Amino acid sequence: MTARFYIVGNWKMNQKLEDIDTFFKDLGDLGKERQYEAWLAPQAIHLTTLLEKANAFNIQVGSQNISDNDSGAHTGEISPSSLLDAGGRFTLIGHSERRSIYKESNDFINRKTLLSLEKGLTVIFCCGETLEEREKGMTESVVAYQIEEGLKDIPANLREKVVVAYEPVWAIGTGKTASPEQAEEVHLFIRTKLTDLWDGTLSHKVPLLYGGSVKPANVEGLLVQPNIDGALVGGASLKGADFRALCDAADKRSKLPGQLQG
Ligand code: PGA
Repeated sequence: MTARFYIVGNWKMNQKLEDIDTFFKDLGDLGKERQYEAWLAPQAIHLTTLLEKANAFNIQVGSQNISDNDSGAHTGEISPSSLLDAGGRFTLIGHSERRSIYKESNDFINRKTLLSLEKGLTVIFCCGETLEEREKGMTESVVAYQIEEGLKDIPANLREKVVVAYEPVWAIGTGKTASPEQAEEVHLFIRTKLTDLWDGTLSHKVPLLYGGSVKPANVEGLLVQPNIDGALVGGASLKGADFRALCDAADKRSKLPGQLQG
């Protein structure tokens, strides 16, 4: 991955076709020569619509979830190869809503991650602690365990397709963002953890996104932190004008001197 900053919209189970039309009308032209990436993850039923529309905006499209199998008798699942075949480039894996509501285990998340990477998708691997875990001082141990288990056995040649999103569960959809300092502290910890796990290879290049009530009003303060390379955004990615404002902040940040990765 060469871009230094990422704005990724996770539309969750929102947006009707009409809303998608309005989104792109309000988004306007983001320009082609950009030093940041803008990505969107719609509901599965809207992947094709998005793939048709987003290309003109130079926006990559991916899924919110993926199967741990590539084909066959798995009713209701999304195959990594089929996603790629349709033009999708990435998938979210291990979002806290999948972990808590759908009881996805670290082992299952790891199988999906390995298969998606092998097939050629970029994986946005999500991790983060609950409020109770934070209050008990367990943030680092929870995040470390999710990373050790979820990102284990990734061959060195596939690591460049890993993006990690730190999303404290208590900040998702609650309006309570982690402060830039709180987020940076965990991001630095994740960077160090990846360096240990991968013996130093490529960990400095893994984009680390922050997620949890990111909006145009707080994104700049987050992106200015040394280990925050972008944002995974739910609610504030649904409207074209808001997504545009997030992209403009990434654009501004990416133009500061010395921001391209070596
Ligand atoms: P939020 O969601 O921005 O609405 O808090 C973020 C996410 O769940 O990815």
